[in-house]
Amino acid sequence: MLEKFDRYPLTFGPSAIERLENLSSHLGGNVNLFAKREDCNSGLACGGNKIRKLEYIIPDAIASGADTLVSIGGIQSNHTRQVAAVAAKIGMKCHLVQEKWVPYEDSVYDKVGNIMMSRLMDANVELVNEGFDIGIRESWVRAIEEVKTNGGKPYPIPAGASVHKFGGLGYVGFAEEVRRQEQEMKIKFDFIIVCTVTGSTHAGMVVGFAKDNRQKNVIGIDASFTPKKTKNQVLKIAQDTAELIEFNQNIIKNDIVLMEDYAYPDYGVPSNETNEAIRLCARLEGMITDPVYEGKSMQGLIDLVTNNHFPKGSNILYVHLGGVPAINGYHQIYGDG
Ligand SMILES: Cc1ncc(COP(=O)(O)O)c(C=O)c1O
Repeated sequence: MLEKFDRYPLTFGPSAIERLENLSSHLGGNVNLFAKREDCNSGLACGGNKIRKLEYIIPDAIASGADTLVSIGGIQSNHTRQVAAVAAKIGMKCHLVQEKWVPYEDSVYDKVGNIMMSRLMDANVELVNEGFDIGIRESWVRAIEEVKTNGGKPYPIPAGASVHKFGGLGYVGFAEEVRRQEQEMKIKFDFIIVCTVTGSTHAGMVVGFAKDNRQKNVIGIDASFTPKKTKNQVLKIAQDTAELIEFNQNIIKNDIVLMEDYAYPDYGVPSNETNEAIRLCARLEGMITDPVYEGKSMQGLIDLVTNNHFPKGSNILYVHLGGVPAINGYHQIYGDG
């Protein structure tokens, strides 16, 4: 589906799929759980879903003659950490706007984890006291202008690399990769579980899996706590991406399945149930999930399985999109396990 697009390889290749046998049997053994490990898809600063998206964005950045990647996220943004890593790898400078998206106080929140890694990779990190919003931000537009004023040539990458012309392509490619892995493994995944916030991961999958009519089997778990906005953004990106790749099928509102029940109490703030899911998954599978994103999609997965949402015998692919470095900013919660 992506033959006509340039790709700059940043990942190791297809990410691993592993069985979550202990979690499957702990939850009753009625379904077969698997994880696709996008959290270790690259050697670039721990990897994650943005690395896969950036593979289709970086050729455009290089062709534009830019010398500075300019992006934005929350203080513990995984996205900006991955942009910083890619900038280092391709020899560009990096300017990151990090806003106060998360109403959570911890003395080390702006010092450890993702933000520390970005600083270590020499990104110019600018802290801005603004709240959460997945849309286009004034602070980011200002930062782009500032790079120009200082004689640089910026290449803008929006939050989550989502509302970018090529933002949805990486996860169209993901669906093709899963189809190839299904053939090798002689298995078919009935459901795909994905954490959704800025939308292009889910949107790309919707387009990619629409090829074999599985778009509604992609179950997004909202972690934004602004699900209406997120759902609209997923739909828009999916439609734009389908048009871009000249896909012969319309993507409609009903194609976007987003579960809204797990993002509480707020974006970036874990509930007791999220923390239980994080601990259960860590203790049964040695697989670490974070309180902002994957802990919430893991909570959703566990809840849906427990409440028999999936037919008996279903093969369910949980997509682990990364995000582990952020747990360091939550040491007050997980410091003792
Ligand atoms: C670890 C992790 N999981 C899930 C997501 C959600 O992906 P998206 O923003 O493409 O919806 C993000 C980024 O926002 C993330 O960093």
